[in-house]
Amino acid sequence: MTKTPESPQTICVLGCAGFIGSHLLTRLLAQENFAVIGIDRETGKISHLTQNPRFKFFNDDIQNQSQTEWCIQRSDVVISLSAICNPAIYNKKPVQVIESNFLHPYMVAQLCARHKKWLIQFSTSEVYGKTISSFVNKSADAAELDQVLSEDKTPFVLGPVAAQRWSYACAKQLLERAVYALGFEQGLAFTIVRPFNFIGARMDYIPGVDGEGVPRVLACFMEALLKRRPLKLVDGGVNRRVFTYIDDAIDAIMAILTHAGAAKGRIFNIGNPANEATIADLAVRMIAQFKQLNPASATHHYALETVSAAAFYGEGYEDSDRRVPDILNAQKFLEWSPRTNLHDTLRLTMDAYIKQYGSTK
Ligand code: UGA
Repeated sequence: MTKTPESPQTICVLGCAGFIGSHLLTRLLAQENFAVIGIDRETGKISHLTQNPRFKFFNDDIQNQSQTEWCIQRSDVVISLSAICNPAIYNKKPVQVIESNFLHPYMVAQLCARHKKWLIQFSTSEVYGKTISSFVNKSADAAELDQVLSEDKTPFVLGPVAAQRWSYACAKQLLERAVYALGFEQGLAFTIVRPFNFIGARMDYIPGVDGEGVPRVLACFMEALLKRRPLKLVDGGVNRRVFTYIDDAIDAIMAILTHAGAAKGRIFNIGNPANEATIADLAVRMIAQFKQLNPASATHHYALETVSAAAFYGEGYEDSDRRVPDILNAQKFLEWSPRTNLHDTLRLTMDAYIKQYGSTK
């Protein structure tokens, strides 16, 4: 792509065929002022976009350094999404998890520093780990720090090394520190995004249909609903998450691109603090909404089954008990706020799943 003054801004999206990548790609290609160079090992979620004249796609792994460098050199901005981000894998394949969440994206960050490209690095809400009050006596200070997780104030609290669930959060935390350090020492322009449980169409997979293993909770519950099986609550489903609709999340990424000056050098929590639910509450809501969206299941009784974390995920699993984002930075610097409430987030997501997998039994 030879650049002329009229050329669109070229965005390199690493991991463009994943859940977030596929939604981002759709939004970028809908605007004439963007061209995209993408790399991904998979193609399924973006096969309808590969013929777009403003999209150059490489069906490859970002570990292919010469290919990745070629793409970075030809871009104005690099959005780094590639990662293993499924908790079922963290304590089964921790080496792969650490490599995919630190080593490979660190190589990308070094290339961005070398070629002076703006890096938008996806991290995770999981860097915060557990709340302080989950393991110390609840002091007033701890309780206050736990109200909301702030990019600039909240400490990170991970479990011991043998609890390999934290291999992912620890790798992401080191990646954030390395990106920050490259900014500090080598002038890398960067923005770090911490997503808080984005959900929407095309998130994860249904086991046995278009993937294998244990996906994240939304897809686990959708599988149970579609196959009329019990919904499994790990350790009773008492832990909490905020669920953020993918379109709101993509709005935030677009806001980063259009607020470059304010976004560079900053870390942003991207999540919807109003959409908090325990996992047990999520299950109850999903059953009710599924019955409305899919009347054929209206009279079916869905059971809730408590399972231990060790039985569901294997030894080495620990959990984040609660993570509510402080989004003041995103509101102030990006002029972004989430708009979709939990009911609509679930309705839109579940409707898309039913359309995609409705015939699954
Ligand atoms: C995962 C990743 O580790 C995060 O980095 C990522 O940011 C996040 O997903 C995300 O989607 O943004 P987590 O929220 O723990 O974190 O992932 P889920 O698999 O969706 O689990 C959420 C909760 O549901 C956990 O408490 C889990 O134990 C529980 N769960 C999961 C169930 O109770 N039943 C299930 O069938 C599946």
